[in-house]
Amino acid sequence: MEETQKVPRHVSIIMDGNGRWAKARGKERLYGHFEGVESVRACVEASVEAGVKYLSLYAFSEENWERPDDEVSGLMELMMKAMKEELANFLASGIRFLVLGNRARLSDSLNAAIDSIQEQTASGDRLTLILFVSYSGKWDMLQAARKLAASFAGNPEDIDFKDVDAALVTSDIPDPDLLIRTSGEQRLSNYLLWQCAYTEFLFSDTLWPDFRKPQFFAALKEYAGRDRRYGKVK
Ligand code: FPP
Repeated sequence: MEETQKVPRHVSIIMDGNGRWAKARGKERLYGHFEGVESVRACVEASVEAGVKYLSLYAFSEENWERPDDEVSGLMELMMKAMKEELANFLASGIRFLVLGNRARLSDSLNAAIDSIQEQTASGDRLTLILFVSYSGKWDMLQAARKLAASFAGNPEDIDFKDVDAALVTSDIPDPDLLIRTSGEQRLSNYLLWQCAYTEFLFSDTLWPDFRKPQFFAALKEYAGRDRRYGKVK
């Protein structure tokens, strides 16, 4: 297979290490998140350049609500500001923007901004950029189970894998081909538990604010060399 044919369709990233990056510079944790937004911009640009069709980012987990109040409110403000600032760029670059997660926990003003940006970018067809906010994999599976239980009148044995796929918040999104986690941590941290069944994992020691285009392209190169067998023999 040619190198160009092995660009992952969906790259997902657990952006980790902002706090440590800031601490190493004697700064507040929020400074790291602020700089992390620059890495998001770089990876969005790199995805468009490489022909990646879906880029998803774990921006805020359900567990992150337990962080100190000022960090939580700072992150929410940062997301609101960054997505508003990027709107013109999304429209110019053909980027469809989506937020997936437990949106009931977000403020009315953030939800209104998300709805507006999602609507305005709905026809973007070069890249779908997904922010997972107030998301966890177990929450997603729980809400899917509740949805199926409420809507399924027949024999539970008739529930199939595709029904679970359709009940998850990612129903319209293909499963990730490549999952990158930065900062040297090697765990899934309650992210896309069902959807990562056959995803290739790549763990990078780079802290998220330092993860820019060269690191992203290096990850795509490593992916191109992986042999995906999906449990079968080739
Ligand atoms: C993990 O680092 C990072 C986060 C929990 C937040 C990431 C969010 C952003 C970069 C903002 C994205 C916003 C937009 C609109 C794209 P950490 O705090 O867990 O770092 P540590 O492990 O070093 O403490």
